[in-house]
Amino acid sequence: MKQFTVILCLLVVAFSCQNKAEEPVETSDNDKIVYDMYEPSEMANLMNQMYAHNLKVKQDILDGKTPTEFPMDFMKIHTAELSDFKDRNEVFESFSNVFLNAEREIFNEDSEVPVEERFNNAVNVCISCHQTECTGPIPRIQKLLIK
Ligand code: HEC
Repeated sequence: MKQFTVILCLLVVAFSCQNKAEEPVETSDNDKIVYDMYEPSEMANLMNQMYAHNLKVKQDILDGKTPTEFPMDFMKIHTAELSDFKDRNEVFESFSNVFLNAEREIFNEDSEVPVEERFNNAVNVCISCHQTECTGPIPRIQKLLIK
């Protein structure tokens, strides 16, 4: 059992990005050890923050409120440290720019495009970037889309 736990820990460290796709609600003792060992990177924290923020924006849109303020914190996507096992490469940088532009459009009050569509565009960029290197959270991100 001990060995199993060690292997689990290693797996969680190596694939933390994939692993977080499942809700981190863990109950048994073994799982708890694994969970405590997981130290989210600066980028992982930022991602969770972006997820939470966009969930709020989605709710506002559904409630008929117009989101007006671009969350400046999102700019940190250019500087936040990634988990050890990941490199910040050109693909990542260009997706970051596409994402920030799409996200900024949500808050563009002069846009002629319906806000639902602009919001979904941004969420689809989240998904596109994840398809390149971190597929785990995709099912969760898809739930953000406005149907
Ligand atoms: C430029 C590429 C890119 C974009 C755009 C992007 N992500 Fe990520 N996301 C990543 C990478 C890479 C990781 C893994 C970070 C790490 O482990 O350091 C990640 C991790 C995550 C995680 C898991 C965090 C954790 O706790 O391990 C969630 C949730 C997430 N992203 C949601 C989103 C949402 C929601 C958006 C859009 C609002 C988004 N991402 C946009 C690349 C991206």
